[in-house]
Amino acid sequence: MAQKKIKIVEVGPRDGLQNEAIQLSVSHRVELIEKLIRAGIHFVEVGAFVSPEWVPQMANSDQVIAALQKKGLLKKADCSALVPNPRGMEDALKTSIQHIAVFGACSETFSKKNINCSIDESFQRFEDVIKMAKKHKINVRGYLSTAFGCPYEGVVSEAQVLKLVGRMLKLGVSEVSIGDTIGVGTPKQVESLLKKVEKKYGLKKIAMHFHDTRGTALANVLASLKTGVSTFDASVGGLGGCPYAKGASGNLATEDLIYMLHGMGYKTGIQLDRLIETARWVEQHLGRPLPSRMAKAGLPLRK
Ligand code: HMG
Ligand code: MG
Repeated sequence: MAQKKIKIVEVGPRDGLQNEAIQLSVSHRVELIEKLIRAGIHFVEVGAFVSPEWVPQMANSDQVIAALQKKGLLKKADCSALVPNPRGMEDALKTSIQHIAVFGACSETFSKKNINCSIDESFQRFEDVIKMAKKHKINVRGYLSTAFGCPYEGVVSEAQVLKLVGRMLKLGVSEVSIGDTIGVGTPKQVESLLKKVEKKYGLKKIAMHFHDTRGTALANVLASLKTGVSTFDASVGGLGGCPYAKGASGNLATEDLIYMLHGMGYKTGIQLDRLIETARWVEQHLGRPLPSRMAKAGLPLRK
């Protein structure tokens, strides 16, 4: 049986909460992140230095980070925050955050709707952000959204994604997360793209970010595992979506992913029972059931 280690990047406190009608308080955001880290999560996105006019749910991410620092949690897990531009990086530098992520898109209209600039302009901004980050020895991850389809333009070509993966890697990011932002990809597409990515760039720095909007996220993880990818983003409870991608609801639920991976013999270092408790805690605080199957069904009897 496979014993390969899989890296899980928990994006619920950012990708998840950014799409919720109810804004969690700073203390509840911190409590959520603490629960995730106590469940064995080693990589977690804790906030975003974006405009509060655009995404009010991520306002006060500096306070979240200060509280995590005070609790010693920044030493227990790699905590990261989204940064769209140099202004966001200036704000990030005022905190103790050691990991950030720049986020671009594979389609022009989504780029414009999400960060109000073209893809070329966004890469210019990322270059500036990365210069600032490197100067302060801050690690940078890169996202590429709408890699399997755009909510405004429809089909996105493999050639476009391949080109942008190369551009992102050239900027010097430690990892590129390829995102199916609106959950339209199917395993055949995922395998086809990843085989080409592998041929051109290798897969060591590639992560996959699936949304389960149309129920294909776990199947897409299987297709990715088959090609050799071993880093996946997921969101506790299946929280999430992007406010600038209508219908993007439902990130892959971390506990559903962990259940499948552990059942297949993969190691993640995450305690599934604690994660399920955390998903249920989020449901209580948001006052609605979340898409997570494991939160609904619980662990099966093993005897
Ligand atoms: P803009 O309006 O073009 O910015 O927004 P601007 O440069 O014209 O400035 C306008 C005002 O915003 C100015 O303030 C700036 O200082 C301020 P004023 O002088 O008018 O008082 N400003 C900022 N304030 C706080 N933080 C900043 C910042 N920058 C400028 N960083 C901007 C451009 C990028 C800021 C905006 O479009 C934005 O915040 N977008 C973020 C949208 C977002 O967070 N989307 C969700 C994340 S992406 C995602 O979920 C996909 C992903 O999960 C992967 C996947 O699923 O595939 C990553
Ligand atoms: Mg996402």
